Amino acid sequence: MTTPLFLGTIISLCVATALFFRYWRLRQIPGPILASVTNLWRFNIQYRGPILPCLLDLHRKYGSLVRIGPNTISVSDAAYVSAIYTNKGDYVKAKKKRYMQADSYEPMRVFVNGQSVGSIVDMQDEEQHRALKRSVGGAFTNKSLQEYEPDVDMILENLLARIGKKSTFVLHDVLQWFQLDFLMKIAFTESPGHLQHGADVYGLSKLTAQRIAHWYTWQSLPQLERFIYRNSVWGRFLARPSKWAKMSKERFNARVATTHDRQEIERRDLLQKCIDYSEKYPDVLKPQTITSVVNSIISAGTDTTSGAMTTMLYFLLKSPSCYKSLMDELDDAQKSGKLSIPPRYTEVSRLPYLDAVLREALRLNPALAIPMERIVPSSGCSINGTFIPGGTVIGCLAMAIHMDQTCFGKDPELFQPERWLNRSDAERSAMERGFLGWSAGSRACLGRQIAELEIKKVIPTLLLKYNISLDNPEQTLQFVNGVLEYGSNPISVTFNTKTQ
Ligand code: HEM
Repeated sequence: MTTPLFLGTIISLCVATALFFRYWRLRQIPGPILASVTNLWRFNIQYRGPILPCLLDLHRKYGSLVRIGPNTISVSDAAYVSAIYTNKGDYVKAKKKRYMQADSYEPMRVFVNGQSVGSIVDMQDEEQHRALKRSVGGAFTNKSLQEYEPDVDMILENLLARIGKKSTFVLHDVLQWFQLDFLMKIAFTESPGHLQHGADVYGLSKLTAQRIAHWYTWQSLPQLERFIYRNSVWGRFLARPSKWAKMSKERFNARVATTHDRQEIERRDLLQKCIDYSEKYPDVLKPQTITSVVNSIISAGTDTTSGAMTTMLYFLLKSPSCYKSLMDELDDAQKSGKLSIPPRYTEVSRLPYLDAVLREALRLNPALAIPMERIVPSSGCSINGTFIPGGTVIGCLAMAIHMDQTCFGKDPELFQPERWLNRSDAERSAMERGFLGWSAGSRACLGRQIAELEIKKVIPTLLLKYNISLDNPEQTLQFVNGVLEYGSNPISVTFNTKTQ
Protein backbone atom coordinates (compact mmCIF):
# COMPACT_ATOMS: atom_id res chain seq x y z
CA MET A 1 0.00 0.00 0.00
CA THR A 2 1.39 3.44 -0.94
CA THR A 3 1.86 6.04 1.82
CA PRO A 4 -0.95 8.40 0.63
CA LEU A 5 -3.38 5.47 0.39
CA PHE A 6 -2.36 4.25 3.82
CA LEU A 7 -2.83 7.73 5.34
CA GLY A 8 -6.18 8.13 3.55
CA THR A 9 -7.38 4.82 4.97
CA ILE A 10 -6.32 5.77 8.49
CA ILE A 11 -8.02 9.18 8.28
CA SER A 12 -11.21 7.62 6.86
CA LEU A 13 -11.24 5.04 9.64
CA CYS A 14 -10.78 7.74 12.29
CA VAL A 15 -13.61 9.85 10.82
CA ALA A 16 -15.90 6.80 10.53
CA THR A 17 -15.17 5.80 14.14
CA ALA A 18 -15.82 9.36 15.39
CA LEU A 19 -19.12 9.52 13.48
CA PHE A 20 -20.10 6.09 14.75
CA PHE A 21 -19.53 7.13 18.38
CA ARG A 22 -21.48 10.32 17.82
CA TYR A 23 -24.35 8.28 16.41
CA TRP A 24 -24.17 5.53 19.05
CA ARG A 25 -24.66 7.65 22.18
CA LEU A 26 -28.34 8.43 21.52
CA ARG A 27 -29.05 5.62 19.03
CA GLN A 28 -32.37 4.83 20.77
CA ILE A 29 -33.82 8.24 19.75
CA PRO A 30 -35.19 8.38 16.19
CA GLY A 31 -34.47 11.23 13.82
CA PRO A 32 -32.77 12.11 10.52
CA ILE A 33 -29.55 10.09 10.19
CA LEU A 34 -27.53 13.18 9.27
CA ALA A 35 -28.71 14.95 12.44
CA SER A 36 -27.34 12.08 14.54
CA VAL A 37 -23.78 12.73 13.36
CA THR A 38 -23.53 16.47 12.71
CA ASN A 39 -25.08 19.73 13.90
CA LEU A 40 -24.65 21.03 10.35
CA TRP A 41 -27.97 19.33 9.57
CA ARG A 42 -29.82 21.66 11.97
CA PHE A 43 -27.68 24.67 11.12
CA ASN A 44 -28.73 24.31 7.48
CA ILE A 45 -32.41 24.39 8.49
CA GLN A 46 -32.14 27.26 10.97
CA TYR A 47 -29.97 29.22 8.56
CA ARG A 48 -32.64 29.04 5.89
CA GLY A 49 -35.70 29.81 8.00
CA PRO A 50 -37.84 28.88 10.97
CA ILE A 51 -37.23 25.38 12.30
CA LEU A 52 -40.90 25.01 13.27
CA PRO A 53 -42.35 23.36 10.11
CA CYS A 54 -39.46 20.90 9.95
CA LEU A 55 -39.75 20.01 13.66
CA LEU A 56 -43.51 19.52 13.42
CA ASP A 57 -42.99 17.16 10.45
CA LEU A 58 -40.30 15.22 12.31
CA HIS A 59 -42.46 14.84 15.42
CA ARG A 60 -45.35 13.64 13.23
CA LYS A 61 -43.04 11.07 11.66
CA TYR A 62 -41.00 9.90 14.68
CA GLY A 63 -43.15 10.69 17.73
CA SER A 64 -42.65 12.94 20.73
CA LEU A 65 -38.85 12.46 20.95
CA VAL A 66 -36.71 13.38 17.96
CA ARG A 67 -32.95 13.53 17.73
CA ILE A 68 -32.05 16.83 16.07
CA GLY A 69 -28.30 16.78 16.72
CA PRO A 70 -25.59 14.30 17.78
CA ASN A 71 -26.27 15.29 21.40
CA THR A 72 -29.60 17.11 21.08
CA ILE A 73 -33.20 15.96 21.45
CA SER A 74 -36.43 17.82 20.77
CA VAL A 75 -39.50 16.95 22.87
CA SER A 76 -43.04 17.72 21.68
CA ASP A 77 -45.09 16.14 24.46
CA ALA A 78 -46.58 18.85 26.70
CA ALA A 79 -46.81 16.38 29.60
CA TYR A 80 -43.00 16.57 29.95
CA VAL A 81 -42.63 20.33 30.07
CA SER A 82 -42.63 20.50 33.87
CA ALA A 83 -40.13 17.59 34.05
CA ILE A 84 -37.60 19.56 31.97
CA TYR A 85 -38.24 23.16 33.01
CA THR A 86 -38.12 22.48 36.75
CA ASN A 87 -38.26 24.91 39.64
CA LYS A 88 -35.14 23.33 41.11
CA GLY A 89 -33.16 24.50 38.09
CA ASP A 90 -31.41 21.12 37.78
CA TYR A 91 -31.79 21.20 33.99
CA VAL A 92 -29.41 24.08 33.40
CA LYS A 93 -29.55 26.37 30.39
CA ALA A 94 -26.22 25.49 28.84
CA LYS A 95 -22.70 24.57 29.74
CA LYS A 96 -19.37 25.54 28.33
CA LYS A 97 -17.22 23.07 30.22
CA ARG A 98 -17.17 20.19 27.76
CA TYR A 99 -16.57 20.80 24.10
CA MET A 100 -19.40 18.48 23.05
CA GLN A 101 -22.01 20.30 25.09
CA ALA A 102 -23.47 23.09 23.06
CA ASP A 103 -23.56 26.44 24.76
CA SER A 104 -26.60 27.27 22.72
CA TYR A 105 -27.26 30.63 24.41
CA GLU A 106 -23.80 31.97 23.57
CA PRO A 107 -24.73 33.34 20.12
CA MET A 108 -27.36 35.44 21.90
CA ARG A 109 -24.71 37.39 23.82
CA VAL A 110 -23.64 40.79 22.61
CA PHE A 111 -19.97 40.97 21.59
CA VAL A 112 -18.37 44.37 22.09
CA ASN A 113 -14.77 45.52 22.27
CA GLY A 114 -13.52 41.96 22.06
CA GLN A 115 -15.74 40.62 24.88
CA SER A 116 -18.99 38.65 25.13
CA VAL A 117 -21.47 40.49 27.33
CA GLY A 118 -23.92 38.12 29.02
CA SER A 119 -27.44 38.83 30.26
CA ILE A 120 -29.85 37.32 32.76
CA VAL A 121 -31.62 35.42 30.00
CA ASP A 122 -28.49 33.61 28.80
CA MET A 123 -26.83 33.15 32.21
CA GLN A 124 -25.63 29.58 32.70
CA ASP A 125 -24.44 29.24 36.27
CA GLU A 126 -27.61 28.62 38.32
CA GLU A 127 -26.00 29.78 41.61
CA GLN A 128 -24.89 33.02 40.01
CA HIS A 129 -28.30 33.35 38.42
CA ARG A 130 -30.11 32.93 41.75
CA ALA A 131 -27.92 35.61 43.31
CA LEU A 132 -28.47 37.99 40.42
CA LYS A 133 -32.20 37.32 40.51
CA ARG A 134 -32.18 38.32 44.18
CA SER A 135 -30.39 41.52 43.24
CA VAL A 136 -32.92 42.64 40.64
CA GLY A 137 -35.86 40.80 42.21
CA GLY A 138 -37.08 44.01 43.86
CA ALA A 139 -38.02 45.31 40.43
CA PHE A 140 -40.48 42.46 39.92
CA THR A 141 -42.32 42.36 43.27
CA ASN A 142 -45.99 43.24 43.82
CA LYS A 143 -44.90 46.48 45.46
CA SER A 144 -42.98 47.48 42.33
CA LEU A 145 -45.96 46.49 40.23
CA GLN A 146 -48.07 49.03 42.11
CA GLU A 147 -45.40 51.66 41.44
CA TYR A 148 -45.46 50.85 37.71
CA GLU A 149 -49.21 51.24 37.28
CA PRO A 150 -49.15 55.07 37.16
CA ASP A 151 -46.29 54.77 34.62
CA VAL A 152 -48.44 52.57 32.40
CA ASP A 153 -51.28 55.11 32.74
CA MET A 154 -49.01 57.98 31.78
CA ILE A 155 -47.56 56.28 28.70
CA LEU A 156 -51.01 55.00 27.76
CA GLU A 157 -52.22 58.60 27.73
CA ASN A 158 -49.35 59.44 25.37
CA LEU A 159 -50.37 56.50 23.19
CA LEU A 160 -53.94 57.76 22.96
CA ALA A 161 -52.68 61.25 22.17
CA ARG A 162 -50.50 59.81 19.42
CA ILE A 163 -53.39 57.89 17.91
CA GLY A 164 -55.73 60.89 18.11
CA LYS A 165 -59.20 60.76 16.62
CA LYS A 166 -58.51 58.76 13.49
CA SER A 167 -55.18 57.32 12.54
CA THR A 168 -53.58 54.60 10.52
CA PHE A 169 -50.53 52.89 11.96
CA VAL A 170 -48.35 49.87 11.49
CA LEU A 171 -49.75 48.08 14.53
CA HIS A 172 -46.49 46.71 15.85
CA ASP A 173 -44.67 50.05 15.47
CA VAL A 174 -47.05 52.02 17.61
CA LEU A 175 -47.16 49.33 20.32
CA GLN A 176 -43.39 49.08 20.25
CA TRP A 177 -43.01 52.85 20.80
CA PHE A 178 -45.38 52.49 23.75
CA GLN A 179 -43.31 49.64 25.13
CA LEU A 180 -39.96 51.39 24.70
CA ASP A 181 -41.28 54.51 26.47
CA PHE A 182 -42.64 52.42 29.33
CA LEU A 183 -39.43 50.42 29.82
CA MET A 184 -37.28 53.56 29.69
CA LYS A 185 -39.53 55.01 32.37
CA ILE A 186 -39.22 52.09 34.77
CA ALA A 187 -35.50 51.62 34.10
CA PHE A 188 -34.24 55.22 34.00
CA THR A 189 -37.24 57.29 35.16
CA GLU A 190 -37.41 59.03 31.84
CA SER A 191 -39.24 58.72 28.57
CA PRO A 192 -37.31 59.80 25.52
CA GLY A 193 -40.56 60.09 23.55
CA HIS A 194 -40.59 57.12 21.19
CA LEU A 195 -44.31 57.74 20.84
CA GLN A 196 -43.80 61.43 20.29
CA HIS A 197 -41.06 60.92 17.66
CA GLY A 198 -42.70 57.84 16.17
CA ALA A 199 -39.34 56.05 16.03
CA ASP A 200 -37.12 53.46 17.68
CA VAL A 201 -34.98 56.36 18.98
CA TYR A 202 -31.95 54.38 20.24
CA GLY A 203 -32.38 51.48 17.84
CA LEU A 204 -33.04 48.99 20.67
CA SER A 205 -35.79 47.16 18.90
CA LYS A 206 -33.75 46.76 15.73
CA LEU A 207 -30.78 45.62 17.79
CA THR A 208 -32.86 43.04 19.69
CA ALA A 209 -34.36 41.67 16.48
CA GLN A 210 -30.86 41.35 14.94
CA ARG A 211 -29.52 39.58 18.04
CA ILE A 212 -32.43 37.16 18.14
CA ALA A 213 -32.13 36.38 14.41
CA HIS A 214 -28.39 35.77 14.88
CA TRP A 215 -29.08 33.48 17.86
CA TYR A 216 -31.71 31.53 15.91
CA THR A 217 -29.29 30.99 13.04
CA TRP A 218 -26.30 29.93 15.15
CA GLN A 219 -27.95 28.12 18.05
CA SER A 220 -26.81 24.72 16.84
CA LEU A 221 -23.19 25.69 16.06
CA PRO A 222 -22.05 27.90 18.95
CA GLN A 223 -18.42 26.80 18.61
CA LEU A 224 -18.23 27.97 14.99
CA GLU A 225 -20.13 31.14 15.89
CA ARG A 226 -17.58 31.81 18.62
CA PHE A 227 -14.73 31.33 16.16
CA ILE A 228 -16.22 33.61 13.49
CA TYR A 229 -17.83 36.38 15.52
CA ARG A 230 -16.03 36.35 18.90
CA ASN A 231 -12.51 35.99 17.69
CA SER A 232 -10.03 38.02 19.74
CA VAL A 233 -8.05 38.90 16.59
CA TRP A 234 -10.73 40.28 14.27
CA GLY A 235 -13.83 40.19 16.53
CA ARG A 236 -13.09 43.59 18.07
CA PHE A 237 -13.31 45.24 14.64
CA LEU A 238 -16.67 43.63 13.89
CA ALA A 239 -18.67 45.06 16.77
CA ARG A 240 -18.76 48.45 18.41
CA PRO A 241 -21.01 49.58 21.30
CA SER A 242 -24.48 50.38 19.99
CA LYS A 243 -26.29 53.69 20.33
CA TRP A 244 -28.43 52.02 22.98
CA ALA A 245 -25.42 50.74 24.97
CA LYS A 246 -23.83 54.21 24.87
CA MET A 247 -27.06 55.80 26.07
CA SER A 248 -27.42 53.42 29.04
CA LYS A 249 -23.74 53.87 29.98
CA GLU A 250 -24.26 57.64 30.01
CA ARG A 251 -27.33 57.22 32.25
CA PHE A 252 -25.33 54.98 34.56
CA ASN A 253 -22.38 57.41 34.81
CA ALA A 254 -24.72 60.33 35.44
CA ARG A 255 -26.57 58.41 38.13
CA VAL A 256 -23.42 57.29 39.92
CA ALA A 257 -22.19 60.89 39.93
CA THR A 258 -25.53 62.02 41.40
CA THR A 259 -25.47 59.31 44.07
CA HIS A 260 -21.94 60.21 45.04
CA ASP A 261 -22.89 63.85 45.32
CA ARG A 262 -25.56 62.60 47.78
CA GLN A 263 -28.25 64.45 45.87
CA GLU A 264 -31.85 63.30 46.19
CA ILE A 265 -32.81 60.52 43.79
CA GLU A 266 -36.31 60.94 42.47
CA ARG A 267 -37.19 57.28 42.90
CA ARG A 268 -35.56 53.88 42.98
CA ASP A 269 -35.98 52.81 39.37
CA LEU A 270 -34.42 49.63 37.97
CA LEU A 271 -31.04 51.32 37.43
CA GLN A 272 -31.01 52.63 41.00
CA LYS A 273 -32.06 49.28 42.45
CA CYS A 274 -29.11 47.66 40.68
CA ILE A 275 -26.68 50.38 41.79
CA ASP A 276 -27.82 50.09 45.42
CA TYR A 277 -27.53 46.30 45.35
CA SER A 278 -24.13 46.44 43.70
CA GLU A 279 -22.84 48.77 46.42
CA LYS A 280 -24.00 46.26 49.05
CA TYR A 281 -22.93 43.08 47.24
CA PRO A 282 -20.25 44.02 44.68
CA ASP A 283 -19.25 40.38 44.24
CA VAL A 284 -22.70 39.41 43.02
CA LEU A 285 -23.46 42.43 40.88
CA LYS A 286 -20.22 43.99 39.72
CA PRO A 287 -20.49 47.73 38.98
CA GLN A 288 -19.20 47.16 35.44
CA THR A 289 -22.05 44.72 34.66
CA ILE A 290 -24.92 46.91 35.92
CA THR A 291 -25.71 48.45 32.55
CA SER A 292 -25.68 45.10 30.77
CA VAL A 293 -28.10 43.67 33.38
CA VAL A 294 -30.45 46.64 32.97
CA ASN A 295 -30.13 46.48 29.17
CA SER A 296 -30.84 42.77 29.10
CA ILE A 297 -34.00 43.17 31.16
CA ILE A 298 -35.23 45.95 28.92
CA SER A 299 -34.47 44.06 25.75
CA ALA A 300 -36.17 40.91 27.16
CA GLY A 301 -39.32 42.98 27.67
CA THR A 302 -39.40 44.98 24.44
CA ASP A 303 -40.51 43.04 21.39
CA THR A 304 -41.97 40.25 23.52
CA THR A 305 -44.60 42.55 24.99
CA SER A 306 -45.29 44.66 21.91
CA GLY A 307 -45.40 41.39 19.92
CA ALA A 308 -47.93 39.87 22.32
CA MET A 309 -50.18 42.93 22.08
CA THR A 310 -49.86 42.98 18.28
CA THR A 311 -50.73 39.29 18.09
CA MET A 312 -53.74 39.70 20.40
CA LEU A 313 -55.20 42.53 18.33
CA TYR A 314 -54.33 40.81 15.07
CA PHE A 315 -56.15 37.59 16.00
CA LEU A 316 -59.10 39.50 17.45
CA LEU A 317 -59.45 41.48 14.21
CA LYS A 318 -59.25 38.27 12.20
CA SER A 319 -61.84 36.49 14.40
CA PRO A 320 -64.99 38.63 14.72
CA SER A 321 -66.68 36.19 17.14
CA CYS A 322 -63.72 36.39 19.55
CA TYR A 323 -63.64 40.17 19.18
CA LYS A 324 -67.33 40.25 20.10
CA SER A 325 -66.89 37.95 23.10
CA LEU A 326 -64.14 40.17 24.49
CA MET A 327 -66.14 43.34 23.81
CA ASP A 328 -69.15 41.78 25.61
CA GLU A 329 -66.96 41.04 28.63
CA LEU A 330 -65.56 44.59 28.67
CA ASP A 331 -68.95 46.27 28.04
CA ASP A 332 -70.61 44.22 30.81
CA ALA A 333 -67.85 45.12 33.25
CA GLN A 334 -68.16 48.78 32.29
CA LYS A 335 -71.97 48.83 32.58
CA SER A 336 -71.81 47.31 36.05
CA GLY A 337 -69.34 49.99 37.12
CA LYS A 338 -66.47 47.53 37.48
CA LEU A 339 -64.29 48.95 34.74
CA SER A 340 -62.82 52.42 34.38
CA ILE A 341 -60.88 53.86 31.43
CA PRO A 342 -57.98 53.42 31.69
CA PRO A 343 -58.78 50.36 33.76
CA ARG A 344 -57.25 49.78 37.18
CA TYR A 345 -55.21 46.59 37.10
CA THR A 346 -57.40 45.09 39.82
CA GLU A 347 -60.39 45.52 37.48
CA VAL A 348 -58.86 43.69 34.52
CA SER A 349 -56.34 41.26 35.96
CA ARG A 350 -58.95 38.54 36.40
CA LEU A 351 -61.25 39.09 33.42
CA PRO A 352 -61.46 35.51 32.11
CA TYR A 353 -61.90 36.14 28.39
CA LEU A 354 -59.18 38.81 28.26
CA ASP A 355 -56.84 36.42 30.05
CA ALA A 356 -57.75 33.62 27.62
CA VAL A 357 -57.06 35.89 24.62
CA LEU A 358 -53.58 36.66 25.97
CA ARG A 359 -52.81 32.98 26.60
CA GLU A 360 -54.10 32.01 23.17
CA ALA A 361 -52.03 34.71 21.44
CA LEU A 362 -48.88 33.50 23.25
CA ARG A 363 -49.79 29.90 22.49
CA LEU A 364 -49.95 30.58 18.75
CA ASN A 365 -47.12 33.08 18.69
CA PRO A 366 -44.73 32.35 21.57
CA ALA A 367 -41.83 34.75 22.04
CA LEU A 368 -39.15 32.18 21.17
CA ALA A 369 -39.20 30.28 17.89
CA ILE A 370 -36.32 27.89 18.64
CA PRO A 371 -36.08 25.05 21.18
CA MET A 372 -35.28 26.31 24.70
CA GLU A 373 -32.35 24.01 25.36
CA ARG A 374 -31.42 22.54 28.74
CA ILE A 375 -28.83 19.97 29.86
CA VAL A 376 -30.10 16.68 31.34
CA PRO A 377 -28.59 16.29 34.85
CA SER A 378 -25.83 13.70 35.29
CA SER A 379 -28.25 11.04 36.62
CA GLY A 380 -30.11 11.08 33.29
CA CYS A 381 -33.90 11.06 32.92
CA SER A 382 -36.70 9.04 31.42
CA ILE A 383 -39.12 10.51 28.90
CA ASN A 384 -42.01 8.44 27.52
CA GLY A 385 -40.19 5.35 28.83
CA THR A 386 -36.96 6.19 26.98
CA PHE A 387 -33.80 6.71 29.04
CA ILE A 388 -31.86 9.86 28.19
CA PRO A 389 -28.28 9.97 29.49
CA GLY A 390 -26.98 12.86 31.58
CA GLY A 391 -25.30 15.63 29.59
CA THR A 392 -27.74 15.37 26.68
CA VAL A 393 -29.10 18.67 25.40
CA ILE A 394 -32.87 18.51 25.54
CA GLY A 395 -35.35 21.18 24.56
CA CYS A 396 -38.91 22.03 23.68
CA LEU A 397 -39.94 24.34 20.91
CA ALA A 398 -42.86 26.20 22.50
CA MET A 399 -44.87 26.25 19.28
CA ALA A 400 -44.47 22.48 18.76
CA ILE A 401 -45.55 21.83 22.36
CA HIS A 402 -48.53 24.16 21.88
CA MET A 403 -49.71 22.00 18.97
CA ASP A 404 -50.07 18.96 21.28
CA GLN A 405 -53.75 18.05 20.89
CA THR A 406 -53.79 15.79 23.93
CA CYS A 407 -53.03 18.80 26.07
CA PHE A 408 -54.49 21.80 24.22
CA GLY A 409 -57.49 20.16 22.57
CA LYS A 410 -58.52 19.78 18.96
CA ASP A 411 -57.65 22.18 16.13
CA PRO A 412 -54.62 23.45 18.03
CA GLU A 413 -53.62 25.64 15.07
CA LEU A 414 -56.79 27.76 15.44
CA PHE A 415 -57.18 30.86 17.60
CA GLN A 416 -59.83 29.82 20.11
CA PRO A 417 -59.59 31.57 23.50
CA GLU A 418 -62.53 29.40 24.61
CA ARG A 419 -60.17 26.40 24.81
CA TRP A 420 -58.83 27.93 28.04
CA LEU A 421 -62.32 28.37 29.49
CA ASN A 422 -64.40 25.36 28.53
CA ARG A 423 -62.21 22.69 30.11
CA SER A 424 -62.36 20.68 33.32
CA ASP A 425 -60.08 21.79 36.17
CA ALA A 426 -57.73 18.87 35.47
CA GLU A 427 -57.54 19.71 31.74
CA ARG A 428 -56.95 23.37 32.44
CA SER A 429 -54.14 22.55 34.92
CA ALA A 430 -52.52 20.30 32.32
CA MET A 431 -52.69 23.15 29.80
CA GLU A 432 -51.12 25.55 32.27
CA ARG A 433 -48.32 23.07 33.05
CA GLY A 434 -47.65 22.51 29.35
CA PHE A 435 -47.82 26.18 28.38
CA LEU A 436 -44.46 27.67 27.41
CA GLY A 437 -45.54 31.20 26.50
CA TRP A 438 -43.59 32.50 29.50
CA SER A 439 -41.26 29.48 29.59
CA ALA A 440 -41.50 27.53 32.86
CA GLY A 441 -39.65 26.60 36.03
CA SER A 442 -36.74 28.49 37.56
CA ARG A 443 -35.93 30.34 34.32
CA ALA A 444 -39.47 31.39 33.46
CA CYS A 445 -40.06 34.99 32.45
CA LEU A 446 -39.21 37.37 35.31
CA GLY A 447 -41.23 40.17 33.75
CA ARG A 448 -44.49 38.27 33.32
CA GLN A 449 -46.40 40.31 35.90
CA ILE A 450 -45.15 43.58 34.43
CA ALA A 451 -46.12 42.46 30.93
CA GLU A 452 -49.58 41.37 32.10
CA LEU A 453 -50.05 44.68 33.90
CA GLU A 454 -49.39 46.56 30.67
CA ILE A 455 -51.19 44.27 28.28
CA LYS A 456 -54.35 43.95 30.35
CA LYS A 457 -54.58 47.72 30.64
CA VAL A 458 -53.62 48.67 27.08
CA ILE A 459 -55.75 46.20 25.08
CA PRO A 460 -59.08 46.96 26.83
CA THR A 461 -58.41 50.71 26.62
CA LEU A 462 -57.80 50.54 22.86
CA LEU A 463 -60.83 48.32 22.28
CA LEU A 464 -63.13 50.49 24.36
CA LYS A 465 -61.96 53.77 22.85
CA TYR A 466 -61.64 52.85 19.20
CA ASN A 467 -63.17 50.88 16.40
CA ILE A 468 -60.08 49.18 15.04
CA SER A 469 -59.93 47.68 11.56
CA LEU A 470 -57.30 45.90 9.48
CA ASP A 471 -56.40 47.98 6.41
CA ASN A 472 -55.82 44.80 4.44
CA PRO A 473 -58.02 42.04 5.88
CA GLU A 474 -56.32 39.42 3.66
CA GLN A 475 -52.87 40.06 5.14
CA THR A 476 -51.29 37.57 7.55
CA LEU A 477 -48.45 37.76 10.09
CA GLN A 478 -45.23 36.33 8.64
CA PHE A 479 -42.15 34.67 10.08
CA VAL A 480 -38.77 35.56 8.62
CA ASN A 481 -35.75 33.52 9.70
CA GLY A 482 -37.70 32.25 12.68
CA VAL A 483 -38.50 35.72 13.97
CA LEU A 484 -42.02 37.01 13.67
CA GLU A 485 -41.36 39.66 11.09
CA TYR A 486 -43.42 42.75 11.81
CA GLY A 487 -41.30 44.97 9.60
CA SER A 488 -41.27 43.66 6.05
CA ASN A 489 -44.95 42.76 5.89
CA PRO A 490 -46.40 45.25 8.34
CA ILE A 491 -49.95 44.84 9.60
CA SER A 492 -51.53 48.22 9.20
CA VAL A 493 -54.67 49.16 11.15
CA THR A 494 -56.93 52.18 11.41
CA PHE A 495 -58.15 53.46 14.76
CA ASN A 496 -61.47 55.37 14.69
CA THR A 497 -62.61 57.00 17.93
CA LYS A 498 -65.93 55.54 19.09
CA THR A 499 -68.81 57.94 19.50
CA GLN A 500 -70.36 57.40 22.95
C1 HEM B 1 -45.62 39.20 26.67
C2 HEM B 1 -44.43 39.54 27.08
C3 HEM B 1 -43.32 38.59 27.41
C4 HEM B 1 -43.12 37.29 27.01
C5 HEM B 1 -44.01 36.46 26.09
C6 HEM B 1 -41.89 36.84 27.61
C7 HEM B 1 -41.36 35.57 27.45
C8 HEM B 1 -40.21 35.12 28.06
C9 HEM B 1 -39.65 33.81 27.88
C10 HEM B 1 -40.23 32.71 26.99
C11 HEM B 1 -38.52 33.74 28.63
C12 HEM B 1 -37.57 32.54 28.75
C13 HEM B 1 -36.42 32.63 27.77
C14 HEM B 1 -35.54 31.39 27.76
O1 HEM B 1 -35.65 30.52 28.59
O2 HEM B 1 -34.68 31.29 26.88
C15 HEM B 1 -38.36 35.01 29.29
C16 HEM B 1 -37.34 35.34 30.15
C17 HEM B 1 -37.17 36.57 30.72
N1 HEM B 1 -37.99 37.67 30.58
FE1 HEM B 1 -39.72 37.74 29.56
N2 HEM B 1 -41.36 37.86 28.34
C18 HEM B 1 -42.20 38.95 28.26
C19 HEM B 1 -42.05 40.18 28.86
C20 HEM B 1 -41.01 40.53 29.70
C21 HEM B 1 -40.85 41.82 30.34
C22 HEM B 1 -41.84 43.00 30.21
C23 HEM B 1 -39.69 41.77 31.04
C24 HEM B 1 -39.03 42.82 31.89
C25 HEM B 1 -39.40 44.06 32.04
C26 HEM B 1 -39.12 40.44 30.85
C27 HEM B 1 -37.95 40.00 31.42
C28 HEM B 1 -37.46 38.72 31.30
C29 HEM B 1 -36.24 38.28 31.95
C30 HEM B 1 -35.33 39.12 32.85
C31 HEM B 1 -36.06 36.92 31.59
C32 HEM B 1 -34.93 35.99 32.01
C33 HEM B 1 -35.42 35.16 33.20
C34 HEM B 1 -34.38 34.23 33.76
O3 HEM B 1 -33.58 33.65 33.01
O4 HEM B 1 -34.39 34.08 34.97
N3 HEM B 1 -39.96 39.72 30.03
N4 HEM B 1 -39.41 35.84 28.91
